[in-house]
Amino acid sequence: MMKFSIKPIHFILIAISFLTMLPDSFAQQMTKPDDIRSKMKWFSDAKLGIFIHWGIYSVNGVGESWSFHNKEIAYDEYMKQINGFTASKYDPAYWASLVEKSGAKYAVITTKHHDGVALFNTQFKERSIPEHSPAGRDLITPFFNELRNRNLKCGAYFSLLDWSHPDYPGFLKDSSRYVIKDNPAKWTRFLDFNNTQIAEISSQLNPDLYWFDGDWEHIADEWHAADLRQMILARNPDAIINGRLAGYGDYDTPEQNIPITRPVYPWWELCMTINNQWGWQPNDKAWKSPYEIITLFVDVIGVGGNLLLDIGPKEDGSIPEEQINVLTELGKWISRNKESVYGTTAGLPNGFFHGASTLSADSTELFLFVPGKDDVQVVLKGLNNKILSANILGTNSTVIPKIVGKISWSTVPGRVFLSIPSAVRDPYMTVIKLKLDGKISLYTGRGGFH
Ligand code: GLC
Repeated sequence: MMKFSIKPIHFILIAISFLTMLPDSFAQQMTKPDDIRSKMKWFSDAKLGIFIHWGIYSVNGVGESWSFHNKEIAYDEYMKQINGFTASKYDPAYWASLVEKSGAKYAVITTKHHDGVALFNTQFKERSIPEHSPAGRDLITPFFNELRNRNLKCGAYFSLLDWSHPDYPGFLKDSSRYVIKDNPAKWTRFLDFNNTQIAEISSQLNPDLYWFDGDWEHIADEWHAADLRQMILARNPDAIINGRLAGYGDYDTPEQNIPITRPVYPWWELCMTINNQWGWQPNDKAWKSPYEIITLFVDVIGVGGNLLLDIGPKEDGSIPEEQINVLTELGKWISRNKESVYGTTAGLPNGFFHGASTLSADSTELFLFVPGKDDVQVVLKGLNNKILSANILGTNSTVIPKIVGKISWSTVPGRVFLSIPSAVRDPYMTVIKLKLDGKISLYTGRGGFH
């Protein structure tokens, strides 16, 4: 009797067949990175963006949209919050200066979340901050103006799904209004409404980046995702679209979950909260410390991504102290170590260095990130290159690499030991810059005796 055994090749074939099952749109996105490479340049160089979740949910400090969807608060109670949304201390110039100070090169702000409440000027008056809240004005334009004054890029978050709209099928977690195939006219009406709002955003704000969300409730054909992408690019061919347009976006958007290995698609951005919530929720005290944020940040850029770090302002537009503190400390750290951040690419693969690293765009400089409090010797493995110089960023200090285990008759590299003088250790994360004798080259062999 023939016995069936699973060999590695079977896993590969299974993986390939899964990949070919992906929607066409995703495959299309995956196969043509060259078409978008030039418009993605600023994004891949930027490394840090600031995400802003601001909406009526900050009045009572409840979960953004999900709180009514999941029936933690009645829908009418939730919507009443619009009467308390004042933006009375909103200072867009201060917001933009904080973004700049954090070291971020772009910001993404919620223009409309899943609750359907628009923070921008829209011809649809039903759920509009300018129309119905005490704030009484478009809150997005002045912020974009201030960002642009500082040469920062502007991103507009827009929820495709709209749990408030009577023509949208979805509503509460256990109820929906209708199914599309039974009422295509209603769905068409909803799409007209939604796409008109996106066109309003496009003509009023002309975002550099469209950050869609909520695509998961419908497939690409239902969203008419290809047409929507075309509509956006017709207005601005350089606009970047995030990966939540049912496969028609330009980059991947993992959320809260930090990758260990490098994601496959060339551009990606991890969106992450500073505590556990996107919007202002006073009960959430689980603040990540500046050290933790900086550690996560270098982990992300070390595997080739951007970090989109979220803040949740209060209803009056003031920003919680803890968030200001994290942004300020992160910004100070980045400015000390900017060479290792902006315009770099992913660093060493796992196994060569115990920590995160980045490479200069031409791959001749390697930046090693070493937690500031660690009193350790840094060890680097498998580096074929000669090190021309080693210094500590943000200081005048140099380090003399000690090469251990290099045998004269072998081409296998030894280990590089580097000690950071305690006086120049960064309180958060020290960066060692190694200048190499050419493009980085790594030894991946098994040792041996030749
Ligand atoms: C999720 C949530 C949403 C949040 C977003 C940020 O998709 O639905 O509340 O705005 O993540 O990435």
